[in-house]
Order: sequence, then structure tokens, then C-alpha cells
Amino acid sequence: MNLVAESDHWKSHHRLRHRVSTRAFNWLSRRRVIRHRPGEQFRIKRHAVAIADLPAAFDGMTIAHLSDLHVGNILRPDHLPAIVDAVNEVGADLIANTGDILDHSNRYLPPAVEALSQLEAPLGVYHVLGNHDYRDDARVVRDAFGEAGLNLLVNTHAPLRHNGGALAVAGIDWAGHPVNIRRLVRHTCEPIEPVDLRILLAHHPHALDTAVSYDVDLVLAGHTHGGQVVIRKNRGGRESLGLGNMRWRYPQGHYVRRRTHLHVTNGVGGSFPLRFRCPAEISVLELRAR
Ligand SMILES: [Fe+2]
Repeated sequence: MNLVAESDHWKSHHRLRHRVSTRAFNWLSRRRVIRHRPGEQFRIKRHAVAIADLPAAFDGMTIAHLSDLHVGNILRPDHLPAIVDAVNEVGADLIANTGDILDHSNRYLPPAVEALSQLEAPLGVYHVLGNHDYRDDARVVRDAFGEAGLNLLVNTHAPLRHNGGALAVAGIDWAGHPVNIRRLVRHTCEPIEPVDLRILLAHHPHALDTAVSYDVDLVLAGHTHGGQVVIRKNRGGRESLGLGNMRWRYPQGHYVRRRTHLHVTNGVGGSFPLRFRCPAEISVLELRAR
């Protein structure tokens, strides 16, 4: 089920915007106005996720959540080995990659696939595509993932077992319009058999709104990059303020609706080469029984 049809006009608009932002960044970097290129700095951010009625088999299970690499002219292929090493060093039970692997073209698809092939976790490494993976030709991306034997979840799920407990790791393809997100979540989650733990990978965090109706315990998403620019942090009951809040319902961090948790990571790369009070990150989630 592919519901995406970005027009050529829209694609060329994005290409122009991308060219302007990367050239400006390169100019600023060479003059040392900006000292560090994205991809060179990221944090490992740990979170505890207390899930209601979580069976003991999953208490302490860890997930490394990677997203929004945007491999291209900003985060370049030579940045990938350090990112891969950092994720592997976490030693998580499961690795989830929630899309935007590429930035604007498939030029760096081979090194991106090569790097992702080196990720290792006992329960496996699972990927979904984001909107930027559609900017060039997503069919080529899917084929490359298939040839490399990577677990790309395209509106499907993988049944797994951990410490004797049954879990399902599901993933939706990039859906574009919110209406399509609802359709893809329904299409993907309805067939999941009864399990002890349901995890859904979705590039767009608004998948949460439908996932709550399908007993999903945890949604992992990216897409927002945390807004990349945060003016005021979320403290003392005050909402944070930044570019993310202006565009998305769930811009960064942790959200809970009914019994479904959502984690939105800031991601590692970015669609423009600036971060302010919103560091690039690899999230590590530890599930805990309440
Ligand atoms: Fe992104």
C-alpha cells in the first residue's frame, strides 16, 4: 500500500530550499561561525518508559531509537561509522530506525545501507522510511534494503519473542497526509495477533492518534527533529517554545494517550544545518513494569 505521490514541483521546491540551506551552512562553517558540522556531535539520551501491565519478560528491555540521519551534504557518509558504533555500544535488545535515512537524493544510499547493515541487536534492527526517503525514488531505496537483507517494515509487523514473552514490532511506511497515517496504522495494526507488547515504528508522530485504538504500547517516531531550535525548555509546567511546537502536536520527547506511549526523538541529522538547545541524539528507552 503506497499512498505517497509528491509532485515534481514540490520536489524541486525542496531541492532548492535544501541547496540554499547547505550552501549557507558551508559558507558559515568555513569561516568558523559554526564550528561543528551536524553528524559530528550527538548525545545518547536515556529514558525510562513505565508501561501499564507490562509482563515481567519485558521489564528492563532496551530499545535504541535512531532517526532522521538525513545522509547527504550535511550529515555525510563519513559521519556514519561513529553513529553506528555509538548505537552498537549501547547494547540494546532492539534497534529501531524511524526514517529519513537519506536527505534529498539516493546518491548516498549505498553507504547508508552499508552502515545500517552493521547495526546489531539480539531482537533485530527494524527500519521504516520517512518523507525524505521519498524525495528521490523510494522504490530504489526499498530494493536496496531488500538486497542488503535489512528489515524494512512497510505496513507490516514482525512477531518476536523476548524472555518467553511475545511481542510485535510493526512499522508504517511514510504516509504523507494525516488521513493516510490513520489508514496505514489501521492497515498495519489490525492483523497483529494478541501479544504481550506492541511496538509501532512510524516516521510521523501523529501515528499516536490512531495507535491508541489498536492497543499499541509504544510508538516510536522522528520527523520533527525536535524542531531543531528550542527557545524555551519545558520547565515548571510551562510548555516549551520552539520551531517544533509551531508545526507539530508532538514535537519532541515523551507523550502518553490512554495507555499508549509515544517517544519522539530529536534525531541525529537535520533538514537544515542548525540546532539550538535541541541536540542531535540517539534515544535509548528502557521499558519498565509499573
Ligand atoms: Fe527528518
